[in-house]
Amino acid sequence: MSEQTTRWPGPGYTRIPYGLYSDPQTQQQEQERVFRGATWNYLCLEAELPEAGSYRTTHVGETPVIVNKDADGEIYAFENRCAHRGALIALDKSGKADSFQCVYHAWSYDLQGNLTGVAFEKGVKGKGGMPDSFCKEDHGPRKLRVAVYCGLVFGSFSDDVPSVEEYLGDEICQRIERVMNRPVEVIGRFTQALPNDWKLYVENVRDSYHASLLHLFFTTFELNRLSQKGGVIVDESGGNHVSYSMIDKAAADASYKEQGLRSDADHKLKDTTVLEGFEEFDDGITLQILSVFPGFVLQQIKNCIAVRQVLPKGDGRCELNWTYLGYAGDTPQQRKARLKQLNLVGPAGFISMEDGAVGSFVQRGIAGAADLQAIVEMGGDTTASSDGRATETSVRGFWKAYRNHMEA
Ligand code: FES
Ligand SMILES: [Fe+2]
Repeated sequence: MSEQTTRWPGPGYTRIPYGLYSDPQTQQQEQERVFRGATWNYLCLEAELPEAGSYRTTHVGETPVIVNKDADGEIYAFENRCAHRGALIALDKSGKADSFQCVYHAWSYDLQGNLTGVAFEKGVKGKGGMPDSFCKEDHGPRKLRVAVYCGLVFGSFSDDVPSVEEYLGDEICQRIERVMNRPVEVIGRFTQALPNDWKLYVENVRDSYHASLLHLFFTTFELNRLSQKGGVIVDESGGNHVSYSMIDKAAADASYKEQGLRSDADHKLKDTTVLEGFEEFDDGITLQILSVFPGFVLQQIKNCIAVRQVLPKGDGRCELNWTYLGYAGDTPQQRKARLKQLNLVGPAGFISMEDGAVGSFVQRGIAGAADLQAIVEMGGDTTASSDGRATETSVRGFWKAYRNHMEA
């Protein structure tokens, strides 16, 4: 395996070389060591594959993948790449199929990813065709291991990765279970093209320090402040995290006013209904952001529930796929509240449009600085869980997991 081209200054995770966000060789190595390595990658929701033949196309890293349900009720995933010349097998985002046929030369596949048909395999009128030695069983797209946890479908190219429950760990499992404890329905989707390396977005998700500093809406309308009750959980691997908080008006204090922050503004809303919601969890937690290494996010911001998938697109770009969820048992009022709160997050959301912008501020800011490093030292140098959120512990956790995969 080739050496990593970007050097870390030492064994810790408090200094992140800027070269990691722009070095083409690093980005290539990530495909093999992270995305096709011993990781579980989010593919889709079980709810998106309601019956035999339902399929979705997605990616694991940059690798195109088909995920579908066969007549045996099992979910299968395989590379969306024809065994013949490498064309995409399925072109649509989703659909229903009994089998797949490549549009280029009509080779066909069953729903488990086996090559079942080669057009004119025996030639035409005794001429041409494949040699007798060609065996269809020896050819086909690579298959992924598939695991379903709480309605989330994950795939892995690795035989070494432990079970998905073990990969997630108890604390993360509990926090997924908290949100995914009932049947869900997809109520909306967005795809965002971001002009920054995928790791900058994943770091942002795990960065509880920035949330109420960058996001004026969070702070001004008291949806999320560092002074609120909450915490950060980082699992043993460092790769998975949860940050959570509770709206607590009684705990309002002067710490934001004292810092003179841009995000603590006097703005008012003419229509405050976007802030209205309802209690659906009995633990008082109004915000829970959870990530699974490498690029999966499960979000509960008030009643806005979504999964996000972060996909690298090479050359300092990434794609962010949002899927917004409701519960199958929602009342019309609950569904309306979720759809309204959807305005908080997403490409043009009051809150997360800023996350979309800030990744590019970093990507542009670090141009010409491949030899310099970011400082990730808030809250110390460990990756331990914390009951305060003025910390970068889960960002350090990401780099711990990243280094473990990249240097393995
Ligand atoms: S590339 Fe698919 S059949 Fe030729
Ligand atoms: Fe943010």
